[in-house]
Amino acid sequence: MKLLAIETSCDETAVAILDCSGTIDDARFAVLGEALFSQASLHAEYGGVYPTLAKREHIKNLPLLLDKALRDAKLDPEKPEIDYIAVTDGPGLEPALWTGIEFATELSKRWGIPLTGIDHMEGHIVSALVEHTDSSFTLGSTKLPLLALLISGGHTEFVLMNSWFSYSHVGRTKDDAVGEAFDKVARMLGLQYPGGPKIAEHAARSRARDAQHGITFPRPLAHEASCDFSFSGLKTAVLYKLKEMGDLSDEDKEHVAEEFENAARDVIVLKTRRALEQTGSQTLAVGGGVSANVEIRKGLESLIKDEFPDVRIAYPPSTLHLDNAIMIGIAAYLRYSAKAPLNPPTKAMGSRSLTSY
Ligand code: KG4
Ligand code: ZN
Repeated sequence: MKLLAIETSCDETAVAILDCSGTIDDARFAVLGEALFSQASLHAEYGGVYPTLAKREHIKNLPLLLDKALRDAKLDPEKPEIDYIAVTDGPGLEPALWTGIEFATELSKRWGIPLTGIDHMEGHIVSALVEHTDSSFTLGSTKLPLLALLISGGHTEFVLMNSWFSYSHVGRTKDDAVGEAFDKVARMLGLQYPGGPKIAEHAARSRARDAQHGITFPRPLAHEASCDFSFSGLKTAVLYKLKEMGDLSDEDKEHVAEEFENAARDVIVLKTRRALEQTGSQTLAVGGGVSANVEIRKGLESLIKDEFPDVRIAYPPSTLHLDNAIMIGIAAYLRYSAKAPLNPPTKAMGSRSLTSY
């Protein structure tokens, strides 16, 4: 099956053309064409994603990226031989989602090709399960139940998949997403958006110095039995600490970044322990932009090694960490091959959750 996938849920405009084959236990995705434009640097001056700007950029870039992807795939731009179109239809920024949905709907009508909407978070889940080899991604057999730890700029949640594409929520953040907390703390430290990688770099410098700095932040909801998270209190604790510290040297910023990252890592690890105990999952799939964080990965890896040696921990290949269209195409094909529903794109409601399937 040749599949065109489109992703515009946030500040990445992405198009991919995949040649998909195999089954849910043995699938292969050859990337025939791909084009991605990250607007991150355009949003940097606003300290976060500015929806109107995101929408304008998606509208401007989608036709250009589609053209590049079609040319790379050596397909006729007038009437390409494509079997299916998949577009992200939520969750995300509504104006941004709509541009992708409208663009995909128009292509679907013009070319007479069926169109399906795909949940962005499902894309992050399946992206954790594939391996990258040359210009292909492959999926082997996945043991269920699967616990997905989804950590991104918009989401922080545990989703349990007992059978393919059937989900229930195990826990979620009560306030900010962890990526959002990284971005906000970075902003307080005068670091550029997106803040996650900047915080990680600063924290690594502090760790390398191994100096005592005496800064401690809370581990919110650590003692609560649920698998829920809260990051707004942690963010406020950083704010108060910064007020108390006054003018900051580069070293001070690095120490704050380290302790903030340690606190985020610790709560993620201890809530993951709880979620694995509660669900008896065989696979832990970690997805979303924050899954790129090395310190959080290290914490999760030691947890699995020491306490859940039979569980497989899976991360996305580095090319699929951040938002991209390949993961949307992979999810669509896996739905198709598992005979799960492929529905037309829905209302792009920002708050829609995976359980609505
Ligand atoms: O999944 P994603 O690309 O977009 C959303 O769907 O939100 O995730 C973006 C988020 C941002 O908050 C960014 O700061 C965070 O992922 N991020 C990181 C790292 N790389 C990206 N957070 C912590 N450490 C990183 N290395
Ligand atoms: Zn995402």
